[in-house]
Amino acid sequence: MDIYKLEAWYLKNQRKLPFRESKNSYHIWVSEVMLQQTQVDTVLPYFSKFIEKYPTVLDLANANEEELHKTVEGLGYYRRFRMMHQAAITIMRDFKGVFPDQYEHVRSLPGVGAYTAGAIMSIAYNQPFSATDGNVIRVLARYLGDDQDMRLEKNKKRMDIYQQQMIEKATPWIYTQAIMELGALICRPRQPKCDLCPLQEHCQSYQQDIQDQIPLITRPLKTKVYHYITLVIEDQEAIYLRKRHEELLKGMYEYPQYESESLNFVLNELEQQGIVLDIYEEKTAFKHVFSHQTWLMDVYHARRIKGSHPEWIRISKHDIFNYPMAIAHRKIKLTSIIW
Ligand code: ADE
Repeated sequence: MDIYKLEAWYLKNQRKLPFRESKNSYHIWVSEVMLQQTQVDTVLPYFSKFIEKYPTVLDLANANEEELHKTVEGLGYYRRFRMMHQAAITIMRDFKGVFPDQYEHVRSLPGVGAYTAGAIMSIAYNQPFSATDGNVIRVLARYLGDDQDMRLEKNKKRMDIYQQQMIEKATPWIYTQAIMELGALICRPRQPKCDLCPLQEHCQSYQQDIQDQIPLITRPLKTKVYHYITLVIEDQEAIYLRKRHEELLKGMYEYPQYESESLNFVLNELEQQGIVLDIYEEKTAFKHVFSHQTWLMDVYHARRIKGSHPEWIRISKHDIFNYPMAIAHRKIKLTSIIW
């Protein structure tokens, strides 16, 4: 690969991004964790807010978990931030609060996989460790003309081995970011801008005009669809929430909801537990698509007549925006509530 051309292209054409302004490994870590599942434009305001609120590993280790959730509300995939919090605590305990600079140490932190460790080692410390994410796989598979199914581990691994060979010949901090930037700006999933590409000359896909067939990624398993009856339950000045302990959205708050398509079924179940609700409004249907599941929610507004569930938390209506809440429920309209 023409590494020199790629690096020169990056130095000239890179976007100015806040996390590129320093080599602070903590900042690089935060940005890479955010960027793993989320687009750059979405990440930007969150990154600045996060660094302002938690300027050091110590601040993150001392973070209040609810406040942390609140700071990243809207980014999705919240498990990564719980792991980050744990990692910050680990750095305080095992590394005297200094972000580690050895690959094995970085890799041992909660939530830090090969990609994140490689990105931190190469970008912050200029060490030759590959960081191979989906964007890098696309660029390399196209460059090499590799038409194998990139959903399969063995094929992804082949791309990572190639990436490792390249970074060993390159300037690591430039190379890692250059190939990611190429994936974002030129070698985009659709309509790549091959005319502007520094790697065009030896790109197999360009030469064979098969860019739109590579990478081949077979469809993942179908996502599961869940039907919920979701209840916005008022009780004078109060409203009821539940804190999730399921792996998906753990620690976030939600309106009480029950997996069912029948309101009557749910109301009967609740009545057997001594809970009586007055449903005062027709349902509104909401849909939320996660990566591996879809929630179809029939939302009903209700008033509590009697009883309560041990999992329900009674809060003032006016506090509802202070609780970290999954966007799936945050987008439920509260217009029929009397505030
Ligand atoms: N996606 C993941 N890491 C990135 C980075 N450092 N720059 C741009 N996009 C990215």
